[in-house]
Amino acid sequence: MLTLGIETSCDETSVAVVADGKWILSNIILSQVEHKKFGGVVPEIASRAHLKTIVPIYRQALQEASITLDDIDIVAATMGPGLVGALLVGLTFAKGLAFASEKPFVAVNHIEGHLAANLLKHHDLAARHLTLIISGGHTMLVEVKTFGEYELLGQTKDDAAGEAFDKVAKLLDLGYPGGAQLDKLAQQGNPDYVRFPRAIMKDQGYQFSFSGLKTAVALHIKKLTPEQLDRHRADIAASFQEAVAEVLVTKTLKAAQERNISDVTLSGGVAANSRIRQLLQERLKQAGKRLLYPPNELCTDNAAMIAAAGYYRFEKEGASEFIVNAVPYLRLE
Ligand SMILES: Nc1ncnc2c1ncn2[C@@H]1O[C@H](COP(=O)(O)OP(=O)(O)OP(=O)(O)O)[C@@H](O)[C@H]1O
Ligand SMILES: [Mg+2]
Repeated sequence: MLTLGIETSCDETSVAVVADGKWILSNIILSQVEHKKFGGVVPEIASRAHLKTIVPIYRQALQEASITLDDIDIVAATMGPGLVGALLVGLTFAKGLAFASEKPFVAVNHIEGHLAANLLKHHDLAARHLTLIISGGHTMLVEVKTFGEYELLGQTKDDAAGEAFDKVAKLLDLGYPGGAQLDKLAQQGNPDYVRFPRAIMKDQGYQFSFSGLKTAVALHIKKLTPEQLDRHRADIAASFQEAVAEVLVTKTLKAAQERNISDVTLSGGVAANSRIRQLLQERLKQAGKRLLYPPNELCTDNAAMIAAAGYYRFEKEGASEFIVNAVPYLRLE
C-alpha cells in the first residue's frame, strides 16, 4: 500500500511517498526561508509560500519515488494543529487530489504524525510505549496504549520546549529558529556555568513549565556586558540546555518506572537535541529501559511521518470524510 503524505501545518512544505507505513520512497521537505528576517513565522507569508510550492513538491515526490498518481492507494494530509491558512493549502490540495482520482483521503493529526516518525524507523517498537513529544508548539508526556489510543500524562503549562529553545537562541543572537544552533553551540560550553532553575514541580506530576527558565536566562544575560556575553555564549547555551534536559529526563524516567513501560520514544523537532537524547539514554539504560528516536530529518516537520500516521489511521478506521476541516488547535485524543 502506497500512501502519499502532505504536510503544510507551519513553515515546511512537504510531500512524501511511504510504503506500508514503514518504508520511505520519497520525502521532499522545503523549509520556507521567507520568515527569517521577521524572527518568527508570519502566517500569511507561510500560506502564500505553500501555495506556490505545493504542486512542484508533489511532482518531485512522485518522481523521486518513481511512481505516478495511479500507484498511490491513500492520500493523507495534516488537518491540525497548526496555522489555519497554511493547513488549508495542503488539506485542500490533498482532498482535491483524492476526490479527482477516486482514492481514499485520510486527515492526520500532526502530533500523531510526530509519534509515527518512530514507526518509520523502529519496526520493533512495542505497541505500548511512552513518548515524550517535544516540538515547537508542544511538550507532552503520553502513554501510547497502541497506535491511536493515548493517555496524556502531562504537558507544559506555558512555553513548549522548542519555543523555549528558540527564545533563548534569540537572546543569544543565534537567529530563528535557533534550537539546532543552540544545541551545536552548547557542545562547546560548560553546563555547570550557571545553575538555572529546574521546574521539577514535584507536586504537579508530569506537568512542565519553561517560562521561568527562559526569564532566568534573560535576566542573566541582561547583567552581562557585550564582551562577557561573547565570552560565555556557549556556557549559557549549555547551562540552559542542561536545565531543560534534566527536567524532561527526570519526569520521563519517573513515568516509565511508575507505569512499568520498557520502550520510550522521543518525538518532535526537539527530539533532535543531542543532550536530551544522551541524558535520557543514560538514565533509561540504568533502569533497564530502551530509548528510541527518529533520525534528525524525521524529528522536524516532514510528510513521511504524516503518510505513516495516515496509513495506520486508515488501517484502524478507514477513510476520512471530505468535509473534514482544518483545526488549528486540534488535540491528541
Ligand atoms: N537540536 C535541536 N535542539 C533543540 N531544539 C531543536 C533542535 N532541532 C530543532 N529544534 C527545535 O524544534 C522545533 C521545531 O520542531 P517541529 O518542527 O516539530 O515544531 P513545529 O512543527 O513548529 O511545532 P508542532 O509540531 O508542535 O506544531 C523548533 O523549535 C526548533 O528550534
Ligand atoms: Mg511539528
